[in-house]
Amino acid sequence: MRPFMSVPFRVNILTIFPEMFDGFFSSSILGRAREQGLLEIRVTDIRPFSTCKHHNTDDYPFGGGAGMVMMAQPVIDAMTAARKDFPSARRIYLGPRGKKLTTSLARELAGEKELILLCGHYEGIDQRALDTCVDDEISVGDYILTGGEPAAMVLVDCVSRFIPGVLGSAESAEEESFSDGLLEYPQYTRPRNLNGMEVPNILLNGDHAKIRDWRRRESLKATLLFRPDLLETAPLDQKDRQILESIRKEMNDPCSSEN
Ligand SMILES: C[S@@+](CC[C@H](N)C(=O)[O-])C[C@H]1O[C@@H](n2cnc3c(N)ncnc32)[C@H](O)[C@@H]1O
Repeated sequence: MRPFMSVPFRVNILTIFPEMFDGFFSSSILGRAREQGLLEIRVTDIRPFSTCKHHNTDDYPFGGGAGMVMMAQPVIDAMTAARKDFPSARRIYLGPRGKKLTTSLARELAGEKELILLCGHYEGIDQRALDTCVDDEISVGDYILTGGEPAAMVLVDCVSRFIPGVLGSAESAEEESFSDGLLEYPQYTRPRNLNGMEVPNILLNGDHAKIRDWRRRESLKATLLFRPDLLETAPLDQKDRQILESIRKEMNDPCSSEN
């Protein structure tokens, strides 16, 4: 992870709908990170770069078919201009065929100094622009969005969590679901008793070793219940495997070695 520096992590987002970002980057944790100078977000409107008479940015697809395609020229020119201020930026196109955004990819991207994010719209972007002006394609999941803008927001949000100083405490990003290959344990806050539903007693006794053990067990249990596929790659030790075995037995899981 990059060291705590006074230089902000810089992102420039290229889009034909810049107004979509209003509000998102001004609120909550990201808004605070910008105020603190930890994060610099620029949003570049691609439209003024179009050399067409009415600054059009899309046209019909060659070969026919539904929808419009974003033209290469405005995208390439917007990228060239963005590159002048962000000379070392990794250039990323948000697109459904890209590599999937994961915790480890977010952590890796947080180690960069600058990112330029390119958002597509309609049926996508003329392939020649993608061939010449992006380094990576990243997808936020196996589904189709109307545009790359929400994907860019997701990417910046999750990458920012790994920028030192952005979260309240340095550990927070490392204790979330997926950070150690498992889902997180359940969380509780006041009141202790909500209409007869009690907070687990172990969380109230101040015994940090017991709390840590309880959380590990609940984390393993949540992963087994909701995302058992993660257990195939999560780094588990002998104790974890024994805990999992006892959870499976409790659940009468046919995968338990004793069933
Ligand atoms: C309607 S989509 C185009 C989909 C394209 N015709 C296809 O079938 O692959 C418009 C834009 O949304 C963005 N987009 C859609 N789904 C995405 C995803 N899962 N991850 C990242 N960006 C996505 C891309 O920038 C894309 O150019």
